[in-house]
Amino acid sequence: MTIRENVSLLPYNTFGIPAQAAYFLDIHSIDELRAALPRATLPLLILGGGSNMLFTQHWPGLVLRNRLRGIEVQRRFRHRVWVRIGAGETWHDVVQWAVRQGFGGIENLSLIPGSAGAAPVQNIGAYGVELKDVFVQLEALDLQSGRLVVFRRAACRFGYRDSVFKHEGKGRYCITAVTLSLSTSRHQLRLSYGDITRTLHSMGVERPGIADISEAIIRIRSSKLPDPARIGNCGSFFKNPEVERGVLVQIQQHYPQAPHYELPGDRVKIPAGWLIEQCGWKGKRVGNTGCYEKQALVLVNYGGATGEEVKNLAFAIIDSVEQRFGIRLEPEVNML
Ligand code: EPU
Repeated sequence: MTIRENVSLLPYNTFGIPAQAAYFLDIHSIDELRAALPRATLPLLILGGGSNMLFTQHWPGLVLRNRLRGIEVQRRFRHRVWVRIGAGETWHDVVQWAVRQGFGGIENLSLIPGSAGAAPVQNIGAYGVELKDVFVQLEALDLQSGRLVVFRRAACRFGYRDSVFKHEGKGRYCITAVTLSLSTSRHQLRLSYGDITRTLHSMGVERPGIADISEAIIRIRSSKLPDPARIGNCGSFFKNPEVERGVLVQIQQHYPQAPHYELPGDRVKIPAGWLIEQCGWKGKRVGNTGCYEKQALVLVNYGGATGEEVKNLAFAIIDSVEQRFGIRLEPEVNML
């Protein structure tokens, strides 16, 4: 086990921000993780795929990169399997593995960047599916006691891009494995969201299976979202705000076509990308950063941006949306 010093985090964050970690260690096993804890120089940061964090300064403590691997079928039922996944596996590799095995449930979550262990932290979601829909449990090392603990679904308190790991559990646990329940037959295909059926049609698919849906999602995402390998980004930078219906009614006085989704309790969700676009930010470049031309919810690094620059752009957008619409956007990305 070698702790490296002054390590560039550039390859480890999809925004491509040139921050440094004072200390850095790759973790390949739970024993390695346990052994590293007493030597942890605070603050401690656990890194998965680095696809949801924006470094605004150098990291003064230890960064542990979760490299715990392995995908195994843990239990078999008549129409389902439980699959246990090492937290350091790349999420999209897990989706592709599942599709190859003919296991359904996560095909709509194709091409989401990041690691399997980070997926429950923000309850990743796309195209009508959220991780919580297939989640069974996760294992985590309690960094305070050094003990392995299990969180079942209720204990994770999943919400929209939210879980206990963003609140009381923040910084306390290192997720080591995630177990999902996937279908082996009688797949429940989710085709209702947005462009899925249209894309399947353009692919010439009439009776789609899970592999077709995965392929359609890959096409949709690739056409709208920048590839982090080419243009640094962290996907959606903000959450879609959930507001009282009265807020929407006010907006509709000026924008009768304002898009929105109904929520329980007379609340609605308004796409943040639409709010940002109305404020004139879509496609706008500010220094080395900008608001992506095809999806206003995504902030990008055109090369050489600092975390501070991206953060300043984010706050300029938050202020302008608040001034125009009275809605304060919340970042989805972790700013460190
Ligand atoms: N819209 C605009 N302008 C834009 C972008 C969006 O007007 O520049 C409006 C349009 O009305 C569009 C609607 O927003 O119909 C929804 O857009 P889209 O389908 O692209 O989805 P989103 O609400 O912007 C969310 C997730 C994405 C996920 C997609 C598809 C959040 C914060 N984002 O985006 O997740 O892929 O739905 O399910 O909930 C991510 O979390 O990183 C992410 C990419």
